[in-house]
Amino acid sequence: MAKKLFIKSYGCQMNAYDSARMAEILAPLGYLPCDGPEGADMVILNTCHIREKAAEKVYSELGRWRRLKADREAQGASMLIAVGGCVAQAEGEDILRRAPHVDIVFGPQTYHRLPEMVARARRESVFDTEFPVEPKFDFLPAERTPDGVSELLSVQEGCDKFCTFCVVPYTRGAEYSRPVAQVVAEAERLVAAGAREITLLGQNVNAYHGEGPGGAWGLGRLIRRLAEIDRLGRIRYTTSHPLDMDDDLIRAHAEVPVLMPFLHLPVQSGSDRALAAMNRRYRADDYRRVVDRLRAARPDLALSSDFIVGFPGESNADFAATLALVEEIGFAQAYSFKYSRRPGTPAAALAGQVPEDVKAARLDDLQAILNTQRLAFNRASVGRVLSVLFERAGRYPGQLVGRSPYMQAVHATAPRSAEGKIIDVRISALHANSLAGVMAASGPQRPPATAARAIA
Ligand code: 5AD
Ligand code: SF4
Repeated sequence: MAKKLFIKSYGCQMNAYDSARMAEILAPLGYLPCDGPEGADMVILNTCHIREKAAEKVYSELGRWRRLKADREAQGASMLIAVGGCVAQAEGEDILRRAPHVDIVFGPQTYHRLPEMVARARRESVFDTEFPVEPKFDFLPAERTPDGVSELLSVQEGCDKFCTFCVVPYTRGAEYSRPVAQVVAEAERLVAAGAREITLLGQNVNAYHGEGPGGAWGLGRLIRRLAEIDRLGRIRYTTSHPLDMDDDLIRAHAEVPVLMPFLHLPVQSGSDRALAAMNRRYRADDYRRVVDRLRAARPDLALSSDFIVGFPGESNADFAATLALVEEIGFAQAYSFKYSRRPGTPAAALAGQVPEDVKAARLDDLQAILNTQRLAFNRASVGRVLSVLFERAGRYPGQLVGRSPYMQAVHATAPRSAEGKIIDVRISALHANSLAGVMAASGPQRPPATAARAIA
């Protein structure tokens, strides 16, 4: 009989990808995904350790699941509880000590072993947070079961950059790139199953250097190869490090039409002093230069970034440098965070930790500017025709939702047959977090590259 599997995923797109693969690897054991933990035979918490209170969130969710498990056991049924992802990697066996009702603890690099872990869990608690020598990708099922027109494809994992605030190099391990042939085969299968857009994923995706014909391939070359796949209409990639934005990848933005003109390129800070303390290995001017080169290659490129405010030692002048950089570059969207101490990372031990109220005030100031820029960017699309990949039904009957090339969510009245298609839409209105439009006959126009700057 089919068993029910519920996976709750926190954090990044990498985790969303991992969760989908976990469901696939457990399917042959009879587990079918369900929408909630109630009544599930197995529940997996795929955790994220990047930001604040990650471990506390995990333990409070596990507390709720403990009661569900007890209820099920009272009815003579069972419920297997597994915790994966970066908190599992970081907390390790502490999870089994603090939450003894947990059956399995596994790390981001061992989930290909889930079937044997499930078998072992019938006898004992299972704990597997190794960094195995065998890459998990070699052991995951080849068949993907995509359920959308826009799919994630992990091409690179781990990170060797060691930014001083970040846990990723410790939880995800050293940088690893999947071989070109494996990536191409997975992309072809996704497209054959209906995907029209693929987002290439990696913690440091533009450091990609997978083995391919003739040696190691960079991300630009991989993108050119994937662009040859018939019916693949859009390619994106995330997340990139400014240092790894090489010439070939920048050229790909000029030369590969299916490479979308939207790039998430985290700068973190506009202050050279803060960037050095963060071990980002570039100066603010290096970032400006990379952006100039990207915009020369693709004038309509829309940019997104991550920012950290209140990094240890950040002065008013350092923060002002961040605001100046934001004003100058103009971002179509961005994520910004208060610095939060991650035990075990070098920045956690730095002097000059910034008081909470200062961090909060800086975050408000930064977000006000970023929000204005985002709205200005979106407003500049009103009246234009943008190509939209319709992904799913909208909130109202007869409506579909999709994304513009610039990652803007677009709602439009469209027949169900438009789902999975890339269609020109004339943008007619701006909402808080999306655009509305009507299907158009004429060709797409691009918003000016400087839209955010011009209007903000
Ligand atoms: N504190 C605040 N933000 C952080 N990030 C990563 N680690 C921390 C931390 N300790 C942010 C960075 C990164 C994004 C994924 O999360 O901006 O780019
Ligand atoms: Fe973390 Fe820096 Fe690596 Fe990004 S580049 S994953 S912030 S260490």
